[in-house]
Amino acid sequence: MACTNKDKLIIFDTTLRDGEQSPGVTLTVNEKIEIAKQLSRLGVDILEAGFPVASQGDFDAVERIATEVGPLMAGRESIGKPMRIAGLARAVPADIQRCYDAISKAPLKRIHTFLATSDIHLEHKLKITRDECVTRAIAAVSFAKSLVDDVEFSPEDAGRSDQDFLCKILSAVIEAGATTLNIPDTVGYNMPEEYGAMIKYLIANTKGSDKVIWSAHCHNDLGLATANALSGIMNGIRQVEVTINGIGERAGNTAMEEVVMAVHTHPDFFPVYHTVNTPLFFRISQLVSSLSGMAVQPNKAIVGANAFLHESGIHQDGVLKNKMTYEIISPETVGANTVNLVLGKHSGRAAFRSRLQELGFGELSDEEFQVAFNSFKTLADSKKRVTEQDLLALLSDQVSSSAGDKATFVIKTLQVVSGTSFATATVQLQNTQTGDIMVDAAIGKSGPIEAVFSAIQRLVGRRIRLRKFDITAVGEGVDALGQVSVKISEDSSVEDSSESDGSVEAQQDDGLNQATYHGHGADSDIIQAATRAYLNAINRLVANENERLLGERKVNV
Ligand code: KIV
Ligand code: ZN
Repeated sequence: MACTNKDKLIIFDTTLRDGEQSPGVTLTVNEKIEIAKQLSRLGVDILEAGFPVASQGDFDAVERIATEVGPLMAGRESIGKPMRIAGLARAVPADIQRCYDAISKAPLKRIHTFLATSDIHLEHKLKITRDECVTRAIAAVSFAKSLVDDVEFSPEDAGRSDQDFLCKILSAVIEAGATTLNIPDTVGYNMPEEYGAMIKYLIANTKGSDKVIWSAHCHNDLGLATANALSGIMNGIRQVEVTINGIGERAGNTAMEEVVMAVHTHPDFFPVYHTVNTPLFFRISQLVSSLSGMAVQPNKAIVGANAFLHESGIHQDGVLKNKMTYEIISPETVGANTVNLVLGKHSGRAAFRSRLQELGFGELSDEEFQVAFNSFKTLADSKKRVTEQDLLALLSDQVSSSAGDKATFVIKTLQVVSGTSFATATVQLQNTQTGDIMVDAAIGKSGPIEAVFSAIQRLVGRRIRLRKFDITAVGEGVDALGQVSVKISEDSSVEDSSESDGSVEAQQDDGLNQATYHGHGADSDIIQAATRAYLNAINRLVANENERLLGERKVNV
């Protein structure tokens, strides 16, 4: 949608940083790399790959994305350059150095440093004066500039900061070398007119404002993140900080697909154009949803399952006569039509490989390809039509359980008996750290899944609290692939509680703010899908604990 008399809207994606700060979301390095590759194909201009100082795991993920995804050009031919890789850093030298070390191998890189500017944050969180704040910001930007050319500065909580103070600090950081100024409505407090007016005021009153790109970063606490970002665009914003599906801290961030499709649908209204490959939106939305465990609400704009369904008779009649009656965007424009494209059990390796390429999984190694092909063949044996959604579910599953990530426990065998009485499960697990193979059996008062989970809990020697269990059918029919998403935490309550048998039915949310871990699994057998999801979550819990035991600290923004 290039339009030369308009400015390009720069897409800065923060799914892997602010998005990953969503409660309970813990992506593995392999999952982050897969999402980063898909974001590159989507046409994202700048990817905030993480917060390197937060933990060794975050550093490794950013470094690998910079090295492995930073140079990729696949699908970006029309943009003509690879995705720029950014890392986040607080306005302190150690963070900035660590950030630089993580992104240094990317051909195009950016350091994004931030410091709060609202009086509430200065007084209660940082306990510094406004003058100290300016001095710190200048020092941080100057140091970042000594390492890279491209430096972004964010005055955190700008939406509640004094605007003349913002002009002062922003003028100072431009002088120190900042090239992008990002204006966060950190707590999602602003109204659209208010946010737009603030941007206008800042651009008009900041010295050197014409030398930098102005960026919007809006949170969705009042459901206004998209409206605020768009209002910003009308007032001078040329970069938007967004996430896929709008995931993020609390109520989330601005959803990329919403801002881009608003600009796309109103080319004459907005002073910008975009270069996003919009037909990939649906797929990437599904990938992020299954890997993050954050379901997309069915009525979600652009990528919700109902976004292109017409239920009422009057609407159906209108659409049959002319789609324009009730469709402002065609499903093809965002890839919502591709979900029904099928493969069958007679489809060979070539057809499968070409479909994988279309889905953005063209770079699988021979071994990974074989694993994917075997899963596809097994599914095709039990299911007549394997859809693109099925493939995405299988591939997401493969990404999260692939060898590069540290899966401590893997399932060897699973046997379940269920009927009108208690269900029983016999589970054999291998501990990949020690090589031990362990077996146990348990009963489930409420069914086979409870039996499996109880046996697994005993085998891994932990008391696991099940906080969420979602099961969805991918597509229609009795042969549909079952996709399970779970959230767990470790139960540290006393041994002799009523839940000591580990029964799932006894486990209810006690409202404690414990760390939670999600897991997902897909299989045409829902008990196997549930088992994989549960074990996937336990493996994340164990990996996180191992990091902590290695003396890791996890700093969140
Ligand atoms: O919301 C916020 O203020 C942030 C900054 C770190 C940019 O995420
Ligand atoms: Zn944020």
